[in-house]
Amino acid sequence: MTIDLTKTEDGYALLTLNRPEALNALSFDILRRIGAAIDEVAGWRDVRALLITGAGDKAFCAGADIKELRNRSLTDQKRGAELGQAVFARLDRLPIASVALVNGYAFGGGAELAMACTFRLASPNAVFGLPEVKLGLIPGYGGTQRLPRLVGEARALEIIMTGRNVAADEAERIGLINAMAQGDLMQAGRDFAGRFTRYSLPVLDCARRAVQRAADTPLHEGLQTEADLSTLAYRTRDAEEGMAAFEEKRKPEFRDE
Ligand code: HXC
Repeated sequence: MTIDLTKTEDGYALLTLNRPEALNALSFDILRRIGAAIDEVAGWRDVRALLITGAGDKAFCAGADIKELRNRSLTDQKRGAELGQAVFARLDRLPIASVALVNGYAFGGGAELAMACTFRLASPNAVFGLPEVKLGLIPGYGGTQRLPRLVGEARALEIIMTGRNVAADEAERIGLINAMAQGDLMQAGRDFAGRFTRYSLPVLDCARRAVQRAADTPLHEGLQTEADLSTLAYRTRDAEEGMAAFEEKRKPEFRDE
């Protein structure tokens, strides 16, 4: 077994990397399966967020499968990086948010998978790192681009160029994760997702897309995107319902339309 994809009874998709004997390392086969799983979730109309975690109590994911990386042609290596990047980029295009539940080591490609998710929660024993320089490599699944966007360039350079570990409490302090979860991580993930999934999914999607554009567009273009997406949100029935409910002093009943 390499990955499991299930639906929870409270309406979430749950993707579990399930290769604990190798600390859930990402073989190319697993990467492809993750991509297929994300595509499958995109077609599920009855889930409100995607939760991603790792099997076992040691690791979320220890990164790309180092044994598989050796002795590859440069062409294969480039294709491998592009595959990882493309698979993780599919999380951005999912119509629902993704939450990484980081339950241990999140190194290399594992940290990059977590960073590609909309949100990250971590247990107190979680450890993040982009240790590729120790292997004579650099991150290839988006780490050099997403880490500085999350924690700023100076910190990202230091973390990537020293390959050092970042413990959960530091990850929380520098904004690499949204929160450190005390207690059961899965429950914390559901509680966290429940704080936004009670709102209209198409409206949340507009908000997420607008914010994601901020990282890679000049201000005036980003503002145009915000104007367009806020108009799109305004045209939903849920916007009508939300504003009517405010006036009528009652709770809105959003229908995701
Ligand atoms: C393949 C891995 C692996 C990995 C662990 N294992 N990480 N196999 N690829 N990335 C395997 C080990 O070989 C071992 O299997 C088993 O998992 C348990 O690991 P141990 O090392 O015995 O556990 P421990 O001593 O607790 O150390 C945990 C660890 C260490 C600190 C996380 O495993 C480690 O440093 N792993 C590598 C982390 C890393 O460098 N990741 C970045 C990869 S490069 P066996 O069968 O030997 O007992 C990357 C991006 C590349 O992600 C970009 C390319 C484009």
